[in-house]
Amino acid sequence: MTFQPADWPRKLRSQEWYGGTSRDTIYHRGWLKNQGYPHDLFDGRPVIGILNTWSELTPCNGHLRDLAEKVKAGVWEAGGFPVEVPVFSASENTFRPTAMMYRNLAAMAVEEVMRAQPIDGAVLLVGCDKTTPSLMMGAASTDIPSIVVTGGPMLNGWFRGERVGSGTALWQMSEDIKAGKMSQEDFLEAEQAMSRSSGTCNTMGTASTMASMAEALGMALSGNAAIPGVDSRRKVMAQLTGRRIVQMVKDDLKPSDILTKQAFENAIRCNGAIGGSTNAVIHLLALAGRCGVDLTLDDWDRLGRDVPTIVNLMPSGKYLMEEFFYAGGLPVVLKRLGEADMLHRDALTVSGLGIWDEVKEAQNWNEDVILPVDKALTASGGIAVLRGNLAPKGAVLKPSAASPHLMQHRGRAVVFEDIDDYKARINDDALEIDETCIMVMKNCGPKGYPGMSEVGNMGLPPKILKKGITDMVRISDARMSGTAYGTVVLHTAPEAAAGGPLAIVRTGDMIELDVAARRIHLDLSDAEIAARLADWTSPVVPPVGGYPKLFVSTVEGADTGADLDFLKGARGNAVPRDSH
Ligand code: FES
Repeated sequence: MTFQPADWPRKLRSQEWYGGTSRDTIYHRGWLKNQGYPHDLFDGRPVIGILNTWSELTPCNGHLRDLAEKVKAGVWEAGGFPVEVPVFSASENTFRPTAMMYRNLAAMAVEEVMRAQPIDGAVLLVGCDKTTPSLMMGAASTDIPSIVVTGGPMLNGWFRGERVGSGTALWQMSEDIKAGKMSQEDFLEAEQAMSRSSGTCNTMGTASTMASMAEALGMALSGNAAIPGVDSRRKVMAQLTGRRIVQMVKDDLKPSDILTKQAFENAIRCNGAIGGSTNAVIHLLALAGRCGVDLTLDDWDRLGRDVPTIVNLMPSGKYLMEEFFYAGGLPVVLKRLGEADMLHRDALTVSGLGIWDEVKEAQNWNEDVILPVDKALTASGGIAVLRGNLAPKGAVLKPSAASPHLMQHRGRAVVFEDIDDYKARINDDALEIDETCIMVMKNCGPKGYPGMSEVGNMGLPPKILKKGITDMVRISDARMSGTAYGTVVLHTAPEAAAGGPLAIVRTGDMIELDVAARRIHLDLSDAEIAARLADWTSPVVPPVGGYPKLFVSTVEGADTGADLDFLKGARGNAVPRDSH
């Protein structure tokens, strides 16, 4: 362990606003006193911004104002000065065209909020999918001491004796309706059973994955990820987090101390072990870009190959986050990785200790939820990175959510030019398609949708579902919900709207998928591909103004994290000049 805490006491950046007796200091301090703060609170103690993604339109984060009170209590106890600050809240279930388009806007806003204000340390109060990466990205770009606490998952959903996993059940039930196996009335009744409490999706979807990534990266206290949103221990975690950030500021323990290449490698392996969302690929690449860490798609493939998926949670497995918590949660998984020599044990965490020190005593209380290695869901649980003439810059597939019999497959392409074309034709029984075909969808990437929507797990045609077929190979430049499943090739790069080869695939072309060989191949000659590309013009109409125009004109490819090109890197936390 090389971390050396800074000397304390020393002058913090908030004193540039609140310290001294000048006119400007009185302006900053005096106005804040309208909230009833005594003068001695401005004595140089750490000012902690509780960056809160609470919003009534982000229901997954709907309880975060209550949790913020617990964070505040912890900050007060440790001698800090807490201030709750609302920040951009990108809700997965309300934002259109997709919350992903707003991840970078949220990150940019958070970065500026932190730098422009008297904040010495930050508690990132997050939960829903994009809120976690966006706030970590913004914090990384300021390098102000920061710690994550998530809102925690919802309790298990139950419907007629069966677990109802957020998202996963929705996809399953909607397919059952198309197949004639479920009535609309039952579907509506099940809706009420899906979301029983405050919290994020209860599957190992993107929210739970990103909470796990934050913990595996060392950016959250050990054990944070799995505690249900309504469990009293979630409040304890919030309070302990509030206490901890004050000491982090005194020690000057910054994101750049924690978010090292080793930390990212730990997180990637952890993602394989938990059967985490493919969205983690994009978010960690983007976060690494903010930190100046050289992380690539190849790291994902290299590090994940030998990691067995041992967390038996939907969508890959059977259980839900509530049961993962009762079984011991993420520390058990990280301990397993450490025992298998798949963890950088010294990687520093927000606690000031190496990650191994945090997890080495963890115990597994349910071996059907956190499986022994010899009973793993899949021996190779990482993210498979595919390359070939259809995806020169890569594409990803989640083996633990795919069908083994389709991992090597050659089929006739049935092409949808975009999501509207797909929706217009997929339910038509005249569509020439069978289960051996490969469904291809274009123009759903960062520039194409825009924002890169979670539509990659295209639902199957009803006439195929009615045969009892539940999976087909699907390829697109879209993402997929972390709660979804199937043999789905995602994030194809370059995307169609940027002139990637995906743009020129036609119905009837033959495509080969070979996951073991990491190959995705369009069975056309180089000359034919080049000729078609020479004839190609993008059908996508670019946005005319506002943030969408900025996004489309500056967003990078999925293969590097889909950040805006001018937001990559850290810009530090130098105090801007005064406003008067
Ligand atoms: Fe918000 Fe799943 S939709 S966590």
